Amino acid sequence: MIVLKNAKILNTEGELVDVNIWMEDGIIRKITNLEEAVPTDADVQDVEGKFVSAGFIDMHVHLREPGFEHKETIATGTRSAAKGGFTTIACMPNTRPVTDTPETVQLILDKAEQEGSVKVLPYGSITKNELGRELTDFVTLKNAGVIGFTDDGVGVQNARMMKDAMNWAKELDMPVIAHCEDDSLVKGAAVTDGVFARKHGLKGIPNESEAIHVGRDVLLAEATGVHYHICHVSTEQSIRLIRQAKQIGVKVTAEVCPHHLLLSDEDIPGMDANWKMNPPLRSPRDVEACIEALVDGTIDIIVTDHAPHTEEEKAKGMELAPFGIVGLETAFPLLYTKFVATGKWPLSLLVNRMTSDPARTFGLNTGRIEEGAPADLTVIDLDTERQVNPDEFLTKGRNTPFTGWSLKGWPMKTFVDGRLVWSN
Ligand code: DOR
Ligand code: ZN
Ligand code: ZN
Repeated sequence: MIVLKNAKILNTEGELVDVNIWMEDGIIRKITNLEEAVPTDADVQDVEGKFVSAGFIDMHVHLREPGFEHKETIATGTRSAAKGGFTTIACMPNTRPVTDTPETVQLILDKAEQEGSVKVLPYGSITKNELGRELTDFVTLKNAGVIGFTDDGVGVQNARMMKDAMNWAKELDMPVIAHCEDDSLVKGAAVTDGVFARKHGLKGIPNESEAIHVGRDVLLAEATGVHYHICHVSTEQSIRLIRQAKQIGVKVTAEVCPHHLLLSDEDIPGMDANWKMNPPLRSPRDVEACIEALVDGTIDIIVTDHAPHTEEEKAKGMELAPFGIVGLETAFPLLYTKFVATGKWPLSLLVNRMTSDPARTFGLNTGRIEEGAPADLTVIDLDTERQVNPDEFLTKGRNTPFTGWSLKGWPMKTFVDGRLVWSN
């Protein structure tokens, strides 16, 4: 038995209460008040009144392995996740080869088992090689262990293809997860169509390139009855469509990334590709819409879209560098510091959107501190302020726009199934 002594946890009313948490065989056995006697043979770890959350869940991570090990591996990506307080992550299939066969799924599961620090849930691709031409074999991929289907990195351009995918997924009781982007409206642009693009004479990515797919797909989801989940929502228009679809009972869920809640295109300091991701940073008005939607539940969960790239790739500049920023090690401190410590959100809102809400959205048996639940836990220091320093990251990626930000809410220890997988 391990006992986490003097832990502060959120109760169902969202208040902080002092408890001891007993863990055994990977399970939370008992949650007691501080007075109750601890078994004499227990391994007692006193966390001295620190906040303890259910381990965070990130349903949108690029682990890059197989094929892009120079950017990230399952070993480095999951260590980065553990350092960020995450205990479960879902990994995107835009690997090389694309995760479109049972062999590649098995390779990811084996590596995660042997070298991974946290739980890894693979997605399979919707189309072979993510080319949008031919559906993958959903039955085989489901049997191999994928938890959903997505062509993340690119949008599924063809409506017929998407509808067929949804019909198959519905039949198998699996979700379809969509990167919403209409290529015909993007045409090689690197930043949003807005203030920054105009100032630098760049082509822009318009908001409709995302929202058009959202609109198309909620109609297809209504028609097919599938669970349709929308990746990295970034625009006011998408949110309007999601809100309407939810109102009429379409089974649609959505996610948002910390950077789309914290940064707009007006914050981009210059032609620095550490500010380049897809979808791009949008207008301040879109940022406000994302925040409002996350608070009112129109957007269900927070994800990072952790997308590591090498420094050489990012050095190619705003127009040529690949899209993407890392996110696992800064997500909670960023959102805690900017929304909770400032009094804008209750702590429970942020924690729920990173734990119980993703668990419910994807039917995962974790994400809560309860007797009988897996002992996936994160101990967090809510008080000490430290600056974001990419040289200290465990991810191979250094691509972040948040360098130097002074933040609180840094994870101190992460437990997966009762095992300490990371400690500062
Ligand atoms: O910024 C992004 N990076 N957006 C995507 O859709 C893909 C991802 C990547 O794989 O790097
Ligand atoms: Zn994407
Ligand atoms: Zn992604």
